[in-house]
Amino acid sequence: MNSIIEPLSIEPMLPSDLAAVLNIDRLCYTSPWFSGVYETELSNRSASYFVARQKEMVAGYAGLWVIREQANLTTLAVHPSYQKRKIGERLLITVLEEAHYRGANHMTLEVRENNRAAQNLYRKYGFQETATRRKYYVDNGENAVVMWAEDLRSPQFQHWIAQQKQALEELYRRARTE
Ligand SMILES: CC(C)(COP(=O)(O)OP(=O)(O)OC[C@H]1O[C@@H](n2cnc3c(N)ncnc32)[C@H](O)[C@@H]1OP(=O)(O)O)[C@@H](O)C(=O)NCCC(=O)NCCS
Repeated sequence: MNSIIEPLSIEPMLPSDLAAVLNIDRLCYTSPWFSGVYETELSNRSASYFVARQKEMVAGYAGLWVIREQANLTTLAVHPSYQKRKIGERLLITVLEEAHYRGANHMTLEVRENNRAAQNLYRKYGFQETATRRKYYVDNGENAVVMWAEDLRSPQFQHWIAQQKQALEELYRRARTE
């Protein structure tokens, strides 16, 4: 892991974050979203979007929709210069907590078949592969892997998430005092 760990705050995404978010989108995705998509999402009452901020810089972001008991992870990305510093994990914990807060019990997502980094992250947080959507991505015809995390409301999952969050906070605290 990169040894430079600055204090990190996770906050609701604001319209003023969109330039930085769109820049990361372009660096991370072959089919980035247009700014209008984010503008619509920010006013969607079923959606929540968060940014990870380090020293005022947007280092990453994540979003979800919640409809009744089901949450969908819509996006998660970390600026390439900030990857492998547990920021993706912190963002994923935040969206899992938000899903729970909004009453969801399951979360689903699609991820590119060749995106091992993201799949590893999702598996680490209890997501399992349930299906493949063939040629889902129009830019290169890549398959999507559909993943689900179940029983978000169970005391076991909530306890485990709280432990993961505490362990990450401890990691950041230790790195800052070393
Ligand atoms: C996927 C992504 C969000 C991970 O963010 P990150 O901040 O770099 O990841 P973290 O440091 O929090 O890593 C957490 C876990 O993810 C997995 N992981 C992250 N990067 C990885 C890599 N390059 N190779 C393999 N596994 C990786 C590991 O399981 C890791 O846990 P570990 O440190 O205990 O091994 C980031 O690589 C990214 O933005 N990628 C481009 C956008 C993208 O693909 N988004 C997902 C769309 S579905």
